[in-house]
Amino acid sequence: MKFSTKLGLWFFFCILIIETGSMLFLHQNVVHSLVDNEMKSLLARGDSHRDVLEETFTDNTLQHIVLMESKTDTEVVVTDTSGRVINSSIAINNEIKSIIAPISNNNQIIETDWESQPYIATASPFSSNSGESGTVFMLKSTSQMKGLITDLNHHFGIAVIIILFFLVITNLVLVKLLTKPLVSMKEATKKINEGDFTVTLPVISKDEIGELANSIQTLASNLNYLQQERKEFLASISHELRTPLTYIRGYADIGQKPHLLDTQRMEYLKIIHEESIRVSTLLEDLFELAKMDQNSFSIVKEKIKLGEFLQLIFEKARPVFSNSGIDLQFYIKKECYVNIDPLRFEQVVQNILDNALKYSDGGTTTIKLSKQDNTCELTISDEGKGIPEDQIPYIFDRLFRVEKSRSRLTGGVGLGLSIVKEIVDAHEGELKVSSKIGVGTTVSILLKETQNK
Ligand SMILES: Nc1ncnc2c1ncn2[C@@H]1O[C@H](COP(=O)(O)OP(=O)(O)OP(=O)(O)O)[C@@H](O)[C@H]1O
Ligand SMILES: [Mg+2]
Repeated sequence: MKFSTKLGLWFFFCILIIETGSMLFLHQNVVHSLVDNEMKSLLARGDSHRDVLEETFTDNTLQHIVLMESKTDTEVVVTDTSGRVINSSIAINNEIKSIIAPISNNNQIIETDWESQPYIATASPFSSNSGESGTVFMLKSTSQMKGLITDLNHHFGIAVIIILFFLVITNLVLVKLLTKPLVSMKEATKKINEGDFTVTLPVISKDEIGELANSIQTLASNLNYLQQERKEFLASISHELRTPLTYIRGYADIGQKPHLLDTQRMEYLKIIHEESIRVSTLLEDLFELAKMDQNSFSIVKEKIKLGEFLQLIFEKARPVFSNSGIDLQFYIKKECYVNIDPLRFEQVVQNILDNALKYSDGGTTTIKLSKQDNTCELTISDEGKGIPEDQIPYIFDRLFRVEKSRSRLTGGVGLGLSIVKEIVDAHEGELKVSSKIGVGTTVSILLKETQNK
């Protein structure tokens, strides 16, 4: 059974029981005070007749009393002490006889059973100044009272139906209001369970239900963030693995060509060997990260001679560039010591070189290292297609490509420079790009020189 139905039924039955109980109590009280009133006024009327008779007990008075009662809905029977009827406003039949049995001297309510008896009755014994005594009986037909109470029941019935109607309406509205946030939370958790973390729950209230909705929302956002982070990380990993594998494939291709000098073949094999070590280091890193459940590479800095470091990369890249008809050059103006993670920083240089290679047709690409006021500046300039000026601010965004079709042809996905930026930021370095369409692009990285040489 649905929670809303259960809650609705609970509400309904609880309020129904309370309502029935109070209605019955009220009805009982109203009937009781109605009958009580009738009895009292009947007795008061009998008593006033008794007073009159005690003062002047004459035939005339008796006639007068009977005449008075014959005009009302009450009846009077006057008997003497032996129970003989002296006068009455009603014909005496057996029913009346059984009511007016002789009684003791006190004023009495002698018949109250309005439900099953034809009359309710009171008795007011008298003893006149002139020595006569007896009893004034007052009777009132119960049929009129029954009619009155039937009317009352009718009104109560209508009231009960109206209250029930409003009870059902209120119940439905209340249950809907109470269960609506619960239902939307159920839907949300179902979505989360199915892997869709983009749920949004409206802020309903500040109570426990509101807090619960808030927690679910936070949970979904966190999961969404984690999933996003994981996706981005996986994309970065594949990107980072792709570059060394491209080198390996490229040099394996070149190395297979006949008529190669042994020294050249050895050089290519060395590069293949180095790159395969890079791949396995990256994979080991990855394995460590998976164990630590982290979604980013850690940076392990060490003191590096930047010129030497770039020289190695330059030598590795030169054959690939010359294979594509690009002249790769390297200048060191001044050697510079920096604190960097060599594995991660090699990725930075390779990604920038990869762009120079992809987006140039011939020309020269220059790697340059210089130093100014304890700041090492590494620039890589190409003579390629260039980047439109208005697009430069976006090239570090993930998955951004200037010309979607051009990049697709060259196999780029728009991750290279975003990875570059991430790593340079992690080294507290500065990254600058200037470019001119048809002239070329220059990427510079500024790094603080380490003091402790
Ligand atoms: N040297 C460059 N010359 C011309 N355009 C460039 C150059 N470097 C980057 N770009 C432009 O900036 C975009 C983003 O570069 P990024 O390196 O991030 O991605 P990509 O090279 O397309 O793909 P990936 O590097 O992931 O293989 C490129 O698609 C390209 O349009
Ligand atoms: Mg790239």
